[in-house]
Amino acid sequence: MSVGQFPNGFLFGAATSAYQIEGVWNEDGKGESIWDRFSHTPGKISGGDTGDIACDHYHRFREDVAIMRTLGLKAYRFSVSWPRVLPQGRGESNPKGLDFYSRLVDALLEAGIEPFLTLYHWDLPQALQDKGGWPKREIVDSFCEYTQLMARSLGDRVRHWITLNEPHVSAFVGHLDGRHAPGHQDLEEALRAAHHHLLAHGLAVSLLRDLVPGARVGIVLNLAPVHPASRDLADRSAAWLADGKLNRWFLDPLAARGYPEDMVHHFNCPMDFVAEGDMDRVAVPIDFLGVNYYTRLVVRSPEAKLPQEVVPGGERTDMGWEVYPEGLYEILGRLHFDYRFPAYFVAENGAAYPDRMEPDGTVRDEKRIAYLRDHILQVHRAIAAGVPLRGYFVWSLLNNFEWAHGYGKRFGIVYVDFPTQKRIPKKSARFYARVIAENGITLP
Ligand code: FCB
Repeated sequence: MSVGQFPNGFLFGAATSAYQIEGVWNEDGKGESIWDRFSHTPGKISGGDTGDIACDHYHRFREDVAIMRTLGLKAYRFSVSWPRVLPQGRGESNPKGLDFYSRLVDALLEAGIEPFLTLYHWDLPQALQDKGGWPKREIVDSFCEYTQLMARSLGDRVRHWITLNEPHVSAFVGHLDGRHAPGHQDLEEALRAAHHHLLAHGLAVSLLRDLVPGARVGIVLNLAPVHPASRDLADRSAAWLADGKLNRWFLDPLAARGYPEDMVHHFNCPMDFVAEGDMDRVAVPIDFLGVNYYTRLVVRSPEAKLPQEVVPGGERTDMGWEVYPEGLYEILGRLHFDYRFPAYFVAENGAAYPDRMEPDGTVRDEKRIAYLRDHILQVHRAIAAGVPLRGYFVWSLLNNFEWAHGYGKRFGIVYVDFPTQKRIPKKSARFYARVIAENGITLP
């Protein structure tokens, strides 16, 4: 039974990021990134894994594009490694690095796959970190220089540009929780980093518009509905704060509302890093907002008196994340009806499960199929409700380096046998290929 046709031109794709798949971390002129440094620091990554080799995509991109073509992907979201093209972060560029992305884009276009280029997916050049990184305002100029370089080298072929992936994670997980590179734990640094991410984004949007005629430019945020664990006001207020940190701290400035007052008060940090005119630069109109959705947040305050009502007791993925497809519908609805960005993409959605290869060489990842199907159905529901959603990207094309978790968490619809680098499309890849071919979902 067909339960949903998607609009003509809807872009079903897959997403990856440079550090997680490319490998070749110190050859062909590439500079060191903060993730190279972080993963080479003992104790930071589960199992001592690094992205040194990863999926060796740098050498195998043609094979990977061929897989995408077999699956019928309409679009592919990838990121550029900043230190691969600008080894010192600014100044002299690396022709071999630029050439790699140029060949990748050509291969995609030849396969009829629309490239979505993310400029920053967390692998800052270490040379810029050494100068203070994101907490220092100078980073914004460096990001502009990098943006101009990429616009000049790929603007003739790439139409969809994403400035940043998940500034929340880069700023807060990297500078406050310390679980990601550069591994700092300082609220003020995190807030400064967040502001410079937003400012760099705004200026890059303007540059891309000038340099790439017809460019469609956006940013990707990790967003989630935040639900209180009970009706107790203490829980509600804790949930609202968590919403402020995850969602509103980034959405409000982008939507020209400035930083949310309650959160400024809550963080209680001098906002002296906001210079005159910054908030206008941050709020330059975008063409689309990319939403990464994996799960919802359920928040309980230690002060709450009422018993917990919302107990997420259902299915969890290998990340420990609750499977909650309806949250995608909820967040898309909120974005459209409250914030009103002109268009949306689901820029990442997917699940890690500990899948294994059967003796017959297949990977039958039924749980991932169910996860994808249920989320794609919510996407369909959101479109039917009027949300201008233009595409959906599964995370991820390949099993890859899952940051602090290393290779232990497998998000791919394509299995990678790392010792041999053999790629084996999982059953979910076949499921997804059918969704794309039918531009809709058919339930058995
Ligand atoms: C997102 C990241 C992506 C991947 C998924 C699982 O936060 O953007 O690189 O790690 O989570």
